[in-house]
Amino acid sequence: MADAPKSATLTIGDNTYDLPIHSPTAGPDVVDIRKLYGQAGVFTYDPGFTSTASCDSTITFIDGGEGVLLHRGYPIDQLAEKSHYLEVCYLLLYGELPSAAQLEEFESLVTNHTMLHEQMVYFYRGFRRDAHPMAIMTGVVGAMSAFYHDSTDIHDAHQREVASIRLIAKMPTIAAWAYKFSIGQPFIYPRNDLDYASNFLRMCFAVPAEDYEVNPILSRAMDRIFTLHADHEQNASTSTVRLASSSGANPFACIAAGIACLWGPAHGGANQACLEMLKEIGSVDRIPEFIARAKDKNDPFRLMGFGHRVYKNFDPRATVMKQSADEVLELLGVENNPVLAVAKELEKQALEDPYFAEKKLFPNVDFYSGVILEAMGFPTSMFTPIFALSRTVGWISQWKEMIGDPQNKIGRPRQLYLGETARDYVDIESR
Ligand code: CMC
Repeated sequence: MADAPKSATLTIGDNTYDLPIHSPTAGPDVVDIRKLYGQAGVFTYDPGFTSTASCDSTITFIDGGEGVLLHRGYPIDQLAEKSHYLEVCYLLLYGELPSAAQLEEFESLVTNHTMLHEQMVYFYRGFRRDAHPMAIMTGVVGAMSAFYHDSTDIHDAHQREVASIRLIAKMPTIAAWAYKFSIGQPFIYPRNDLDYASNFLRMCFAVPAEDYEVNPILSRAMDRIFTLHADHEQNASTSTVRLASSSGANPFACIAAGIACLWGPAHGGANQACLEMLKEIGSVDRIPEFIARAKDKNDPFRLMGFGHRVYKNFDPRATVMKQSADEVLELLGVENNPVLAVAKELEKQALEDPYFAEKKLFPNVDFYSGVILEAMGFPTSMFTPIFALSRTVGWISQWKEMIGDPQNKIGRPRQLYLGETARDYVDIESR
């Protein structure tokens, strides 16, 4: 961290405290309160971490006001247009775009780790037939620590590297098998002659009786969905991975924790919730009714795929996703898809509505991703597993960064205690 030439003064009663201010390379200054409790005996209060930087990082930068998302400095729209997922993985993991030789080596490494330990098949079979694929993924990724003992020592840089490659390489197989299991079809094994996205599509849609010809436009759209979800700085699931890792837990346990957190409808579950909402709306004439519900303080309904903790402007990922939706639906000959029609009209009406303008609520990445994934043939239950697959590289990059950080210590938030003060135990007969 750079030296802190600036400071803030905090006055509590008769005492004043100097708090160092760190200036980032981009974004707002950060007041360093690490010594505050030791010096002043007070905690800070910030539920939801709305004003708190939990770490320093060099991976991803978001300017929510301007709608900017940078990975290692590169804008997401340029990466989505010119790069591809495995190159973005390399960038996130190692900090720079790879040379042609480095990329080839990295892709070959990932491709050669896509198979799962065969005994994991029995692990899948232990799940109920109708298990949600996210439940299966949480369990299977956690179970990897029982299958890959030789990459669980977080203090060994080589083992950390092997665990990282294994997780990125095996996640499409894990997600595709979770899907296959949930629909009662045999598992399809990965094929090394296919690229990352095509391999995933084939493992989801081929059956032993009939192979699946991967359409390059669909494969490109799939790759773009992976790229757009690859990392998003200190969001809830990434912070969960960091917090789990701060105790020294192994990488598979930490990523399983991230998957569990991602599942919630306010986070990765929003794409499933959004498509279900668009279908419930059903036709454009019902949109005003749902907008009115979203604005009603007494109704818990929210417009799914709208709003974001950080973006108070367009989510730059949503713009690319909208273009992709048009391309994919045109390719599949479903440009007149009623769900897409509802999505576009809902976006238009919400953006014209003062409620959404005042609260700076714009479409987020999940608003159009569900429309694309459904058109590709995925059921809604697979939307969040695809998000988890894509975000794995972000979780791992942040995990690796954290382990290499000398400031790293176990995460232990404080609290504002509002419960009873000490009181004597009362025997049950006297209560
Ligand atoms: N529809 C209607 N009103 C909303 C919405 C929405 N989608 N989102 C926020 N608001 C209102 C909210 O009621 C509140 O109003 P008031 O100030 O009058 O109480 C105000 O806007 C601020 O909301 P908040 O809940 O304090 O904001 P937050 O930053 O804590 O929440 C959010 C962010 C993403 C959880 C929220 O916008 C939301 O629930 N959106 C729908 C779910 C969704 O699409 N999530 C995907 C996020 S992007 C993918 C990811 O990162 O995982």
